Amino acid sequence: MTTVLTFSNFKGGTGKTTNSTMTGIELSRRGHKTLLIDLDPQANATNLYLKTKENESGELVTFEQTLMAGIRSGDIKSTIINVFKNLDVLPSSADFALYPRYMESVRKDYSERVKYLSELIAPWKDEYDYILIDVPPTISLITDSALYATDYAVIVLQTQERSLQGAEAFIQYLQETLVNQFHAPTLDVAGILPVLLKNGAPVDLSTLSKAEKMFGKENMFQTTIKNMERLKRYDVTGVTFKDQFDRAVQAVYKKVVDELLKRISEE
Ligand SMILES: Nc1ncnc2c1ncn2[C@@H]1O[C@H](COP(=O)(O)OP(=O)(O)OP(=O)(O)O)[C@@H](O)[C@H]1O
Ligand SMILES: [Mg+2]
Repeated sequence: MTTVLTFSNFKGGTGKTTNSTMTGIELSRRGHKTLLIDLDPQANATNLYLKTKENESGELVTFEQTLMAGIRSGDIKSTIINVFKNLDVLPSSADFALYPRYMESVRKDYSERVKYLSELIAPWKDEYDYILIDVPPTISLITDSALYATDYAVIVLQTQERSLQGAEAFIQYLQETLVNQFHAPTLDVAGILPVLLKNGAPVDLSTLSKAEKMFGKENMFQTTIKNMERLKRYDVTGVTFKDQFDRAVQAVYKKVVDELLKRISEE
């Protein structure tokens, strides 16, 4: 059975894509069959994974059909691209921004549109151990659909006031809208994953202690993500597995995945 995970926060640029893509890589390197579904029309996760595939295969990677075209034609399975062993991506592109409008023409009620994605991926549940969904930062049918299909949301909290507010608003939204209103069948929170801005500077410590008070210490990941230049560089180069800086990044995501799997197995 698949576990569907979504990394989220309503504040943009907090590390949703970075953490979901790096978690996907670590899960696949452990031998878990993993699919990342990119639902963000910015396609950051898609670009990162395709560059990573190019690094590993030495070939230029392009894709023939966009996710939106696949949805229109009823065949999105053939849109899936293999990145490397055990890791697949369902790529996004700018035209996915048309998804909410397209769904209006297909399903009359919003509450029915929200279920469409989870119906689409239901047949894949035997094929993957983990499905990760990367979402845009704004509330829309796209994020609602992802969260409706989610088993565990990981809330990415960058150590700054606005991200704290985004996380708080997000948790409230999960409860009031996704659970109470749309009756999301499996949605739960795996925890709040802190992403440090300044690697332990006062702003980090004060935001972390505020977050502990707000959300409860038991709901916070003990693993924190430091600010690492190498992660930023992956935007340009794709993920690399070459030197000590790559290994430092991988060591962090080993800890993240250890803790994530422990947290969700204890739920
Ligand atoms: N731990 C980190 N250390 C250094 N840079 C980071 C780290 N995490 C994320 N970044 C960089 O910060 C930027 C924003 O991160 P990312 O794209 O993951 O955020 P996001 O929440 O997905 O953004 P959006 O809301 O636009 O989807 C990227 O350039 C990324 O490389
Ligand atoms: Mg993103």
